[in-house]
Amino acid sequence: MKLLSWRASYQVGVDLIDTEHKYLFKLINEFHDSYAAGNTHKQLLLVLNRLVAYAEEHFQHEETLMQEIGYPRLARQEGMHQKLFSSIFELNEKLSVTDAKVDAETLRFLKYWMLEHILKEDMDIGDFMRRKAAQVEKAIGESAG
Ligand SMILES: [Fe+2]
Repeated sequence: MKLLSWRASYQVGVDLIDTEHKYLFKLINEFHDSYAAGNTHKQLLLVLNRLVAYAEEHFQHEETLMQEIGYPRLARQEGMHQKLFSSIFELNEKLSVTDAKVDAETLRFLKYWMLEHILKEDMDIGDFMRRKAAQVEKAIGESAG
């Protein structure tokens, strides 16, 4: 069974973001599968490294997008991205340099890390873009009279 299954309710409604979220799901599921298959700690770390690198890229893409659309809560979002990034970066560090091993708690952590990011932060970006698009359309309609 997959750790994370994609649902329509996870859709932010912005193609770039949704595509990247699906890829993050894929990496987290890959990590879970690798763990379930009994792969070595080293193999698990390889997947986790990819997840950390991709998460960093994803957050950067979102921040660029938020800048482009004039998103009003950019600074707050950047702060949240930093916190979220630190938490998986630290997990990666802990698993890389200490004796800590991947366990059920690690998987639970990654699952909720992902869902929290989508459901608490990114949904609002989609809402903002739709509101903005509706305003533009209304303005065009009015000027066309
Ligand atoms: Fe995101």
